[in-house]
Amino acid sequence: MKEYVNIKLRKEFKSSIIDKYRDNKSPLMQILQESQKQFGCVPVEIQQLISEELNISTAKIHGVVSFYSMFSLKPAGKHIIGICTGTACHVKGAQRLVDRVEKELGIKYGETTKDGLFTLAPTRCVGDCSKAAVVMVDDTMYGNETGESIIKILKSYQNKKS
Ligand code: FES
Repeated sequence: MKEYVNIKLRKEFKSSIIDKYRDNKSPLMQILQESQKQFGCVPVEIQQLISEELNISTAKIHGVVSFYSMFSLKPAGKHIIGICTGTACHVKGAQRLVDRVEKELGIKYGETTKDGLFTLAPTRCVGDCSKAAVVMVDDTMYGNETGESIIKILKSYQNKKS
């Protein structure tokens, strides 16, 4: 498996993050959040490092990373697409949007496009149900979306890249 975080970065992570939080009451979540912020994920080698340093089993760490949707095992794409699948959006065809975007980008939920531009992330109600179906791209919300309108929006992000 390709190593994502090299030895130098691991040493830096140990001294700047693990050592900073290790004496806290429950340091694991804080350290995982720092990894997510720094690397865009919590890669296996960071999980191993945390395990060695804090004497927590890798199984437990992996369980926490898998349980919380804010953590991912692989680096995320430049833009995070969140198609709301809350009730109102579901009624307005959220699943059709998911199917259309998955087909267009050739990825499934939780995956990142090969060019690293998009990650498709599961998203619950974002609190603007009157605009269902809602799609978030990073911090920008798009409402009343249809399959074709969201593809146009994604293309605008693709065009910005070039
Ligand atoms: S259900 Fe989608 S915004 Fe509320």
